Amino acid sequence: MSKIFVFLFILSGCLLDYVTLEVETSIPSIVKYFNTKGRYEDVNLYLRDDVLAVNSSVLQTQCEPIHLTAIIRHGTRYPTTKKIKEMKQLYRIILHSNATEDHDWLREIQTQWKMWYTEDMDGRLVQKGVDDLKHLAVRFSKMFPSLISEENLRGGLFQFTTSSKHRCVNSTMSFKAGLTELWNIKDLEIPHTVNDTLMRFFHECDRLKQEVDNNSSAVREVDQFKNGPEMKRVYQRITDLLGVPHSLITHDLAEAAFDLCGYEFTIKEVNSPWCQLFTEEDAKVMEYASDLREFWKRGYGHEINSRASCVLLRDVFERLDREAIRSKHDQKSIQTTATVQVGHADTLLPLLTLLGFFKDTEALTSVNYASQANRAFRTSHMMPYAANFLFVLYKCGRDDLRLQILLNEKPVTLPGSTNQQDTMPLYEDFKELCKDLLQGCDFKTECQL
Ligand SMILES: *[C@@H]1O[C@H](CO)[C@@H](O)[C@H](O)[C@H]1NC(C)=O
Ligand SMILES: *[C@@H]1O[C@H](CO)[C@@H](O)[C@H](O)[C@H]1NC(C)=O
Ligand SMILES: *[C@@H]1O[C@H](CO)[C@@H](O)[C@H](O)[C@H]1NC(C)=O
Ligand SMILES: *[C@@H]1O[C@H](CO)[C@@H](O)[C@H](O)[C@H]1NC(C)=O
Ligand SMILES: *[C@@H]1O[C@H](CO)[C@@H](O)[C@H](O)[C@H]1NC(C)=O
Ligand SMILES: *[C@@H]1O[C@H](CO)[C@@H](O)[C@H](O)[C@H]1NC(C)=O
Repeated sequence: MSKIFVFLFILSGCLLDYVTLEVETSIPSIVKYFNTKGRYEDVNLYLRDDVLAVNSSVLQTQCEPIHLTAIIRHGTRYPTTKKIKEMKQLYRIILHSNATEDHDWLREIQTQWKMWYTEDMDGRLVQKGVDDLKHLAVRFSKMFPSLISEENLRGGLFQFTTSSKHRCVNSTMSFKAGLTELWNIKDLEIPHTVNDTLMRFFHECDRLKQEVDNNSSAVREVDQFKNGPEMKRVYQRITDLLGVPHSLITHDLAEAAFDLCGYEFTIKEVNSPWCQLFTEEDAKVMEYASDLREFWKRGYGHEINSRASCVLLRDVFERLDREAIRSKHDQKSIQTTATVQVGHADTLLPLLTLLGFFKDTEALTSVNYASQANRAFRTSHMMPYAANFLFVLYKCGRDDLRLQILLNEKPVTLPGSTNQQDTMPLYEDFKELCKDLLQGCDFKTECQL
């Protein structure tokens, strides 16, 4: 439980008053700006009170769900080795800083806080990340009880695919454990396949590697923003607070401080003194710098970023087609009720971009921070740990198949569909909308040099 009850007994005269204070886990004021390092429950706020709650207005009762494919990002993880090295460097600087002003939080970092991150943690899933996926599995079973059921799991009607990264494999195992613990199953081995072609396509795409990942001009805007006036004000404030020479605080170290605030909170639920280094305005600038990077490396910045994900989109629709045909013709072929595919932010962002989600009229650049204040492309909202994208196929009548898509458990409509209120379009209409992608986008062709 995140709630601590503090009983205060106050002796006033001869009366014994008794006051109950409920002290909530303290949440950093900048929690909204953690980019891809944020908690799922800080995006879906109703989960803060009950992590197993589902929004019942999402449930469809008129139609029968026949298949769901879930593409899920791994759960909460440790920082990567590179990040931990930067954190250590920053910590060393702060230990030896000559701050002139006396700040409680700074003294706390210097005297009480311990550098507990070690390089071997290297991006691994943490216990909170195990829970993220277990809880997600339980919520899915509540949302789609006829698909995510003990009977179907035992019947082998589930399919699990994961990226080879340890945090994804562990997330996959955690999702399964969420279900087996829910149904108290002890005698069942549930298989999964590792498929990087599908879940780490960004790593397999030569054109993406050459034109974007290994190309500093591709992220020019990011570098320019890092040296621009908004970021410089943030560096200035940090160096003033810490009393260290200006040259010591690089963008990487500013980001390490910002991420420390995030990691301490997501991993340990601590509102750490690191968070005090940033005003809300600073946090928005840090958030924008990360969004810029995602935009140019995995989002709308370059066409190849999203085209690389065609392989995944096609995989989803080949399966939906199979299930659609099977249900129409009452075929005896074995149904897959649920396909669970676990990957990365780098897996989901390109796919969402490919489908046109979170697209602003203007590109994110180094000079439009202010005018992008209300941008749609905001990873803090889109991509917390355990972010998920669901395709749910329903049978509503003999020849009436419909597709519901949900992003982080909220029904969404495909950008470009004429009726933005209709979250249950006909399956054929949905496919018509992405026809060009399903027919004209081929991973091999897109990614070869
Ligand atoms: C539940 O879902 C409905 C319909 O999608 C939405 O309008 C509502 O805001 C959601 N409630 C919460 C608490 O998220
Ligand atoms: C703090 O002051 C000492 C002594 O003047 C100096 O050697 C050291 O480099 C200073 N530390 C920082 C981080 O500026
Ligand atoms: C992740 O998987 C590895 C290998 O199976 C295991 O040793 C480790 O304990 C797991 N970690 C978590 C957090 O589940
Ligand atoms: C991975 O997925 C792709 C696309 O669905 C498929 O063609 C390939 O055979 C799969 N590879 C493995 C090892 O399962
Ligand atoms: C990256 O670029 C450098 C030089 O621009 C080149 O030598 C290297 O082979 C490239 N690596 C890849 C993976 O494309
Ligand atoms: C690097 O990126 C720039 C800007 O997008 C592009 O014009 C150039 O062709 C890219 N270079 C390579 C080697 O792909």
